[in-house]
Amino acid sequence: MSYLQIRNVWKTYDDNVILEKLNFTIEKGEFCTLIGPSGCGKSTFLRMLLGKESPTRGTILLEGEPLSNEPGSDRGVVFQKYTLFPHLRALENVMLGLEMEHSAFLGKAFGSARRRIKEEAMEMIKAVGLEQSAHKYPSELSGGMQQRLSIAQALVKKPKILLLDEPFGALDPGSRSDMQELVHGLWQTYGLTAFMVTHDVKEAFELGTRLLVFDKVRNDPHSPNAYGATVVNDIKLDKNKRKNKGEGHVDHDETIIA
Ligand SMILES: Nc1ncnc2c1ncn2[C@@H]1O[C@H](COP(=O)(O)OP(=O)(O)O)[C@@H](O)[C@H]1O
Ligand SMILES: [Mg+2]
Repeated sequence: MSYLQIRNVWKTYDDNVILEKLNFTIEKGEFCTLIGPSGCGKSTFLRMLLGKESPTRGTILLEGEPLSNEPGSDRGVVFQKYTLFPHLRALENVMLGLEMEHSAFLGKAFGSARRRIKEEAMEMIKAVGLEQSAHKYPSELSGGMQQRLSIAQALVKKPKILLLDEPFGALDPGSRSDMQELVHGLWQTYGLTAFMVTHDVKEAFELGTRLLVFDKVRNDPHSPNAYGATVVNDIKLDKNKRKNKGEGHVDHDETIIA
């Protein structure tokens, strides 16, 4: 049985068909990169995987079970737009997710629970190479560092599936390349199944083990919303071809601590 099964999934908003006839399966540990024209429904697809939206038709099964409507802690998400709290330091931003889990009401843990949460968060801060900036506020961090922090926030809950929606779109080429290395390393270290939307075709080929191309195959000029996009190309990529600067090492002297 495949890890994730997408079975005849359609998504419409009112009369607009956004996605149609999605049919594919994903194995555990795959790194799927998603490309396609703007507005074709890539983010909508990720939101369905996250459980924030349900398919209008069809089903998504995770390990044979229908995806719950509630976004679960088994799925972590990173958007291009950062979801950091400006009034919390880097470490506190990462701790918050775990604290909410611990006490949904107070959003705060005390005593030994808090110490453990702090340790786990610090481990994640180190894993994304932000050890020296743990006590800084988001506004004191560069765009690349803020994105590292968002990734730490997503991964601290130990999700099995990591969803990345154009995560590096706003970064300069240097930081982008560092982030690609980082995400690739984390994917390996934590044995994640990853989905990443990107505009960058080169990035899609280099980072993915599988490339899903979304587009509309059917088009009615008189009724532009009658048909949705689907996966028009599903390309298995050679894993060994991808750049990999070695297990555990992100770049320079930063080391992933698992
Ligand atoms: N909540 C919503 N209600 C209505 N239309 C939506 C909603 N979310 C997305 N859409 C529409 O669905 C289409 C696909 O959007 P999106 O998934 O963001 O595309 P992509 O990420 O590929 O750029 C767009 O036309 C967008 O306007
Ligand atoms: Mg999008």
